[in-house]
Amino acid sequence: MRKPFIAANWKMHKTVDDALKFVEAVSGRLPDPAVVTCGIAAHFLALYPMVQAAKDLNLGVIAQNAYGEFSGPYTGEVSPRALAAAGVQYVMCGHIERRTLFHEDNQLVAKKVAAALQCGITPIICTDETMIQQEFNGEVHYVFAQLMDVLSEISFDQVKNVIISYEPSWAVGVGQHANPTLAEEGCRLIRRSIADTYSYEVADKIRILYGGSVNPENIELIMGKRDIDGVLIGRASLDADNFLTMVNRVAALYAPAAEAKK
Ligand code: 13P
Repeated sequence: MRKPFIAANWKMHKTVDDALKFVEAVSGRLPDPAVVTCGIAAHFLALYPMVQAAKDLNLGVIAQNAYGEFSGPYTGEVSPRALAAAGVQYVMCGHIERRTLFHEDNQLVAKKVAAALQCGITPIICTDETMIQQEFNGEVHYVFAQLMDVLSEISFDQVKNVIISYEPSWAVGVGQHANPTLAEEGCRLIRRSIADTYSYEVADKIRILYGGSVNPENIELIMGKRDIDGVLIGRASLDADNFLTMVNRVAALYAPAAEAKK
């Protein structure tokens, strides 16, 4: 059984004070880390204070981006080595907003993934697609091409150490309802392509997350799907009570299986 990974993506929201107040609000109310992994992707300024504040909590700290080099003349960029030294455990690479607003391409995202792994940070590789790509390419071939390009910079052995997210653009930040059937189909096809390209064992281990309009009302339906191992939550994660409702609903869903595994 793959342990579910429930992460907030706060994007460019909250000040450092807001972020710390949130950590205080969820402290003591998060689920058992043996059942669910919880995380928060915050902007760079908030990361180090959050690592300090969340030290004893089931709350991993996630960077929303990092550069593909360790140091050098890259004004305005942040090194994955500096993030690792600050205690950051995960980094999102190639979120759709970075690809569309900041022109990140697969080559750049691949470098970021490889550099993060070298620093001991787990990359969350974000894949996306538009409705047009889905209709014209059949299934989600566009996502496969994107993913394989990004994985091309890392070794066969390292693939099992990444997390993948599937965030179709029509579901991200648009206020539409997430469609659990399409979400599952995307994640299932990604897993199948990992099995075909790497191995069944790797595909069976790797965690594949879904992102796009997840909220307290639909999280159980989405997390009830076999190939969805977690979610990246934008808007609905900004409120601490909402976040707690979601992680604890997922914990209730997974607790019997975690207990049986003991
Ligand atoms: P929303 O949950 O606001 O649709 O955002 C999803 C997202 O971008 C997660 O990375």
